[in-house]
Amino acid sequence: MAGAVRLEPVDEENLESLLSVAVAEAEPDDVMPPVDAPAGWSHARREAFRDYYRTGFAGLDGPARTRMYAVLVGGEVLGMIRMTRCPPPGTVETGFWLGRSARGQGVGVAALRELLNLAAAAGMRTVVAQTSRDNAGAVSVLRRCGAVLTEKDDAVHAEISLDATPPPH
Ligand SMILES: CC(C)(COP(=O)(O)OP(=O)(O)OC[C@H]1O[C@@H](n2cnc3c(N)ncnc32)[C@H](O)[C@@H]1OP(=O)(O)O)[C@@H](O)C(=O)NCCC(=O)NCCS
Repeated sequence: MAGAVRLEPVDEENLESLLSVAVAEAEPDDVMPPVDAPAGWSHARREAFRDYYRTGFAGLDGPARTRMYAVLVGGEVLGMIRMTRCPPPGTVETGFWLGRSARGQGVGVAALRELLNLAAAAGMRTVVAQTSRDNAGAVSVLRRCGAVLTEKDDAVHAEISLDATPPPH
């Protein structure tokens, strides 16, 4: 990895950089909810991307109950990690993605460790995630960050207790 991983709340300043990474290096399904729009990175899908990421601007206590962070290394936006309040109180769900060229270099693990620190600082006790058995990258990242994994058919539920998270290094 070329430098320390830093998380910066997604805002109007970095939103276009995030969109550029997504368009150049990710599939729409990996970075935003499905929308009814022509396939690929059509104009409508880019607009929906901006709208979706703007829902996180108000943070954990806003209407979307979500805080989204741009993942930066050496000042360059490489992807995104978020946390969203979910029941029971003190719990957030995380989701994350990186541009293809940033994958497989430890950025995912470092970003999730940073997110765990921010969640703990926000008073959270548990971070959960949903993925699928065939998403080896996500499963590895979650396991490396101390998640207890529960599998049901193809679905994988991950649960990280912040009380038990070892200090990041
Ligand atoms: C999931 C994702 C963020 C992983 O981040 P990453 O930076 O590539 O992961 P890291 O480099 O930190 O790797 C962590 C571990 O996962 C392993 N890994 C990463 N990608 C992998 C892959 N595609 N297949 C198998 N193992 C993989 C690494 O070898 C490493 O293993 P180790 O613990 O034995 O060293 C990235 O692959 C991605 O953006 N995927 C598309 C979006 C997505 O699926 N998001 C998850 C939604 S929950």
